[in-house]
Amino acid sequence: MGTAKGSVLIASDVQAILPYTKKVVYLDDLETAHVKGEAFQVFDANGKPVEKKVTTIDWTAEQAKKEGYPHFMLKEIFEEPRAVARALAPHVDVEKHAVDILSHTGLWSANQLSAACASIDRIIIVACCTSFYAAQVGGYLIEQFAGVATSTDIASEFRYRKPVIAKNTLAILISQSGETADTLAVLRQLKKMQVPVLSISNVKNSTVDREADGRLYMNAGPEIGVASTKAFTATLALMHLLALDLAKVRGQLKLNDESRYVRALLAAPAQMETVLACDKFFSEAAATLKNYKGFLYMGRGVNYPIALEGALKLKELAYMHAEGYAAGEMKHGPLALIDDRMAVVMLAPSDSLYEKTLSNLEEAKARGGVIISIGTVGNEKLRALSARYLALPRAEWSVNPLLESIPLQLLAYHVANALGHDVDQPRNLAKSVTVE
Ligand code: M6R
Repeated sequence: MGTAKGSVLIASDVQAILPYTKKVVYLDDLETAHVKGEAFQVFDANGKPVEKKVTTIDWTAEQAKKEGYPHFMLKEIFEEPRAVARALAPHVDVEKHAVDILSHTGLWSANQLSAACASIDRIIIVACCTSFYAAQVGGYLIEQFAGVATSTDIASEFRYRKPVIAKNTLAILISQSGETADTLAVLRQLKKMQVPVLSISNVKNSTVDREADGRLYMNAGPEIGVASTKAFTATLALMHLLALDLAKVRGQLKLNDESRYVRALLAAPAQMETVLACDKFFSEAAATLKNYKGFLYMGRGVNYPIALEGALKLKELAYMHAEGYAAGEMKHGPLALIDDRMAVVMLAPSDSLYEKTLSNLEEAKARGGVIISIGTVGNEKLRALSARYLALPRAEWSVNPLLESIPLQLLAYHVANALGHDVDQPRNLAKSVTVE
């Protein structure tokens, strides 16, 4: 509930209240509120009056305005370099190029940290949709850097199985809103099982934030567009730091490598700024792209979840059929879909899987697919094979997801716009999914 002059505003998400007031009261489960004018009284499940704390949100009402952009989504995409910089800032020493994030979670005291992290045998990361794709990137990075077995799960699936949780498991829950019903149910389930839960959320004092054992913040600022953009890339940045720090604390990361990857992450916001120039590329291409019968998004390794997220963005905004696939899976089925009316969006940055991805791309092209590729500057072979080619700045393999996300968001934004859809409020969708 937001308490404003003359009224009390009720919403499932603080973003909705922010234009009117920064003073909020969070209702807990089974509580009810009696509201009259600007007065309110909260009661517990037994009808007993409860005193509630009024909290001040540290976001400004300006942050919840479009600031000259035609849509919140476009504004939020253009904010991504700053959002990523804000996500990184509290956990990185910019002089020493060192990471320190695990000690900020509140899960362990300074003298417990290294023993506690050394004893983690398994990590599970649970979330919904876009946050789940960020989880998949995070899981990949944790395994590659820290060598800790990591699995990722969709919250609505996890909660209705009997998940087998090994001893010494750390759970990480990701939720931009911190109010997603399925994610919250998983949090409570895990807590009952006495699994320590670290939450990553964007909304301070949201239910997930309040109930988790430890917490990290995306620091992306209010995200108003229904399609998640800046919260996604901010989460990718946090997951990268977590993977590096876990590797470091467990003695798996050389000092040189720590410095190299932290520098790469610190360089990412400026690189993302240059990637935003592709706005024009997609605003011009949208008139053609909107006529394709469907889109296949492909990537390998850490880029695969970005392909899934790219396809989701197009589905939710342009209402076009789009699928994300691991590029190596193409010949196992999706190749049959390809003809000259099918667009194939290939994520092929310069990394250890580049040559393999290129051969998947050749297969798609040979079947008549229209290739839109996103690669690294100087990938001439990729350019030659593509109908449209977008070159990203050179970065560490693990930083590429941050750079690739922006073009995919802009592609979906412009195609949706060209089709005349409401990009900020796509049909049938809500920003926070507080029911099953
Ligand atoms: O707030 P959460 O991160 O828990 O939300 C999860 C999904 O509901 C969210 O990612 C949603 O699918 C967005 N529309 C994605 O753009």
